Amino acid sequence: MSSVRRAQTLSALREQFDAVLEPGPHGYYAGGSGDEVTLAANERAWSEYSIHPSVMVDVSRRDPSVELLGRRMPHPLICAPFAYHRLAWPDGECATALGCGQANATYCLSTLATSRPAEVATAAPGTHRWFQIYVFKDRAVTDDLVAEAVDNGFEALVLTVDLPVLGKRERDIQNNFTIGDAELVPGVAAAGGKGLISMQDTADLIDPSLTWKDVERFAAQSPLPVIVKGILRPDDARKAIASGARGVVVSNHGGRQLDCVPATARVLPSIAEEVNSEVALIVDGGIRRGTDVLIALALGADAVMVGRPILWGLAAEGATGVETAFEILIDEFDRALALSGCPAAADLSEHDHLVTPAKRSAL
Ligand code: FNR
Ligand code: LAC
Repeated sequence: MSSVRRAQTLSALREQFDAVLEPGPHGYYAGGSGDEVTLAANERAWSEYSIHPSVMVDVSRRDPSVELLGRRMPHPLICAPFAYHRLAWPDGECATALGCGQANATYCLSTLATSRPAEVATAAPGTHRWFQIYVFKDRAVTDDLVAEAVDNGFEALVLTVDLPVLGKRERDIQNNFTIGDAELVPGVAAAGGKGLISMQDTADLIDPSLTWKDVERFAAQSPLPVIVKGILRPDDARKAIASGARGVVVSNHGGRQLDCVPATARVLPSIAEEVNSEVALIVDGGIRRGTDVLIALALGADAVMVGRPILWGLAAEGATGVETAFEILIDEFDRALALSGCPAAADLSEHDHLVTPAKRSAL
């Protein structure tokens, strides 16, 4: 009996993603803003560090686990929040959440999901779940979504702070890309979206007036830990902590918001220094290899969010593809732990000179 052979590399999954998606959704998922300078810089920047391995260390047992927000996670990979999974796979977010569970990865559901928090909880009850928040101008809609997430066993709220307005995404403009009927996206429909909607129509429903005062109020009232996503400066990391955040995500939204901002790999060290292990530190942007994960942890991150590779897996094979994408990265990370002579993921940042800048690009 023949069984389908699973992809062994992320590039194989990416080829499947390229082959199956129509130009509209493909451009939306793959693209960035402006000239996509930051999009390209994110991936490149991890390879602009060198790893200095120690040899003749007993690496017969490796421990990829890390502790985050008081929970031991079997590995440091988390699924980044992204919108509109049903454009990639019929079951959308439910399939993604199942695939995450199969890989023991925490799943972060987007406010702009095409599935409700309760549906995802029912479809993947065993998956650790976080909920990502965009604050709609109609705050009651956001409150309802958060309440639904809290009632359905979500464990943290990830407040995304880098989308007061939408970055200019020329692929979407050229493709005249629309998401479909607003009813596909429960949060958008509740916030007043109607008929055929574009990403711009959706972004117009989001409140651009938010400040740290709102974060403070939100964190004080939240029954769950609040993580602030979209930090690129040490002083903003400090403000997030002062506002009550229990974690920050160093992120430039995968190069989709302001173009020409630095690659996350480049700003991570100074933010790690500022955060000084006071709260959870997560990074995303361009993580495509197990060595990228190792570098991120050695530079001070506690965990990483993986973005587009999960979409590649979802579009290619649904839940199985999501699981495969994580498994590829986890296997590469395990090899990197062994080959660097640092068998415990939680100790990576303690190793002297494990990772040093090799070359610096413009961003
Ligand atoms: C995103 N991202 C995102 N972030 C967020 O907080 N809420 C969201 O709804 C979305 N939606 C979204 C859609 C698509 C198609 C992409 C590619 C990204 C950003 C995402 O969470 C993450 O920050 C980046 O994807 C990380 O970069 P990489 O790994 O894709 O390079
Ligand atoms: C995006 C939004 C949904 O990046 O976060 O498309």
